[in-house]
Amino acid sequence: MTILALETSCDDTCAAVVTASGEILANVVSSQGVHDRFGGVVPEIASRHHLELVNAVVDDALARAGTDLGDVDAVAVTQGPGLVGALLVGVATAKGLAAARGLPLIPVDHLQGHVAANFLAPAPMEPPFLCLIASGGHTLLARVRDHRGYDVAGTTLDDAAGEAFDKGARLLGLGFPGGPALSRLAADGDPHAFAFPTAARVAGLDFSFAGLKTALLYKVRDLGEEEAARRAPDLAASYEHAIVEALMARVERALAADASPRLAIGGGVAANRRLRARAEGLGVEVHVPPPELCTDNAAMIASAARWADRVPYPRYLGLDAYATRPRRRAA
Ligand code: KG4
Ligand code: ZN
Repeated sequence: MTILALETSCDDTCAAVVTASGEILANVVSSQGVHDRFGGVVPEIASRHHLELVNAVVDDALARAGTDLGDVDAVAVTQGPGLVGALLVGVATAKGLAAARGLPLIPVDHLQGHVAANFLAPAPMEPPFLCLIASGGHTLLARVRDHRGYDVAGTTLDDAAGEAFDKGARLLGLGFPGGPALSRLAADGDPHAFAFPTAARVAGLDFSFAGLKTALLYKVRDLGEEEAARRAPDLAASYEHAIVEALMARVERALAADASPRLAIGGGVAANRRLRARAEGLGVEVHVPPPELCTDNAAMIASAARWADRVPYPRYLGLDAYATRPRRRAA
């Protein structure tokens, strides 16, 4: 069985070909890069670029896999959550490709895709495990019980962790996306120079990053332009430290309740060195997929599709995308 998958939930146009055993035959990601000068993703521009890129990206994935649509058994696509205009480009393309061959369509939840990145060859992690997904759009702590779904243990009450990195980076005069730049600057700073809040008062396993961003804003104002520039590495290191501690405090709480604690990490923030080091120090088995499978990609969507329900032709022709996740267990 071979699955062709599409992912267009944000600003990356992605297509992948994956086998039933989770072997990746092709994983193509075309990053638009056009949003950086706006300091964030512009939804309308993202949709238009997906439209321009999607056919070429699909062709490229099939060619790299050494296959064509005739050998594909099902088409999978991200149905949501994400930017609805961007999602619709993927959904419409997937419907067209599947319908042309009478193939089944497999709609996949984007976050279930991030979880399923851990199920891909050559080194899959088998459930059950705790999964932290931290990206520019999402912060989710999931108890993964089987291949089909997870229970939400915690989620963010306001900003996503990657968004906190990006907003902090902007306050420090760095470009977008700010996470990598802020992290590089932090390497020369003292993480204990400033005490930024980690939302310790938020009970349970939910996250909150809005107060942290405001604390950095006030600190930069208090210091004044010149001093803030001079102390930028310390500010970056302390801010990064606070985000990582906020994430890991919840992870530790969740793991403490597990009989056999194991952790997987995904999303763009998983690239963060401080976060990785902190996770490695937990004393439990930690799984971090390679970077290209942590950030948005279609191989993870194909991976999730292996266990998801197939919709036969032509029932999926009326299928819609969703911007926010329906309140139910992911399946
Ligand atoms: O998963 P991703 O590529 O895209 C989505 O948001 O879906 O995640 C991008 C986010 C951005 O907010 C970016 O600043 C953050 O991940 N990021 C990092 C690092 N690399 C990427 N944050 C902290 N440290 C990094 N090294
Ligand atoms: Zn994502």
